[in-house]
Amino acid sequence: MTQTLLLLPGDGIGPEVTAAAQRIAELVAPDVTIESALVGGAAIDASDVPLTDETLDRAKRADAVLLGAVGGPKWADVDRDKRPEMGLLGLRKGLDVFANLRPAYCFEALVDASSLKRERIEGLDLMIVRELTSGVYFGQPRGIDTDENGVRRGYDTSVYTAPEIERVTRVAFEIARGRDGRVCSVEKSNVMESGLFWRQEVTALHKTFGEGVELSHMLADACAMELVRNPKQFDVILADNLFGDLLSDEAAMLTGSIGMLPSASLGIEGTPGLFEPVHGSAPDIAGQGLANPCAAILSLEMALRWSLGRPDAADRVMKAVADALKSGAKTRDLGGDMSTTAMTDAIIDCL
Ligand code: NAD
Ligand code: IPM
Ligand code: MN
Repeated sequence: MTQTLLLLPGDGIGPEVTAAAQRIAELVAPDVTIESALVGGAAIDASDVPLTDETLDRAKRADAVLLGAVGGPKWADVDRDKRPEMGLLGLRKGLDVFANLRPAYCFEALVDASSLKRERIEGLDLMIVRELTSGVYFGQPRGIDTDENGVRRGYDTSVYTAPEIERVTRVAFEIARGRDGRVCSVEKSNVMESGLFWRQEVTALHKTFGEGVELSHMLADACAMELVRNPKQFDVILADNLFGDLLSDEAAMLTGSIGMLPSASLGIEGTPGLFEPVHGSAPDIAGQGLANPCAAILSLEMALRWSLGRPDAADRVMKAVADALKSGAKTRDLGGDMSTTAMTDAIIDCL
């Protein structure tokens, strides 16, 4: 049966970078059927909601979903539950993709594009496993209202259940076994009950199914510091939804640019994964052909590897990106002057 890749270009630079990834997909996996649909602000403009039931259904029926980015100033004032970002959260929740893999590796050609010294990041290769469908992003109660004393307030709830921690911890352990075997679990167990519970659960789970994995714990603020002090100490970082979000943006800068970092969001086996760059819709450069397409192209690479069962095609894409960078191809965020299209052409030349 033919496989289907659903493209959700979204907003801002989203359509520019997914178009680049589509060109690569057509070359390395020509038999995959590529479809597309609207999400985020683009979906609001067309149908008044950031994610229609029909699009979510199509995503569930696809073999993999590749999303560009959502959001932008145009939709800053729409109701909260209708914001473009809610389309993305609805997609993650609807597909139940609870394990978000955000690798940070430094291509040799980009060592000098990083804000850190060469020796700190040369050979960097770490994986952040971020819990994606729970925690403070989804916890109830939440709201903006007035309390019983008439004081206005805004609040969220950070809550994790034992099964939610267990399933993402399993993924982190499995991934570590295929790498250097080390997992560093991150929380704020010194101030948060949900953080303390996270640490207790992960510790217990390590005893039951952590064979071959060395587990350590770190407070999230210390981890943020260690990531820039000595990032190569890490192999796999396991974090909740919020801390994983912050730490992955920080890790992105180690690699030279946020325009380089892909991600894979995986659910239970046999369900489609959601693949997206870590970066956003970059309204400041949208429509100018300046976006770095590498994060989207490397997200396609992850889709080929993790959902479409095509490791050979994935290897080809990875090597082509590395070779193009080596040949000096660079967009502006990397210190070069290539357009999105020229960068994509350079990668295609290396395929
Ligand atoms: P952003 O990632 O869009 O941009 C941050 C900075 O990085 C900007 O200067 C931008 O020009 C640059 N940048 C990002 N991607 C780039 C690329 N591929 N090539 C070159 N430069 C790149 O983050 P932001 O400005 O905080 O957010 C803008 C909008 O995007 C907001 O609405 C936010 O909610 C949304 N957002 C969406 C996603 C997503 O869809 N997954 C992720 C993050 C932010
Ligand atoms: C990301 C983004 C999203 C998040 C937003 C746009 C909802 O920052 O994918 O990292 O916070 O998860
Ligand atoms: Mn983020």
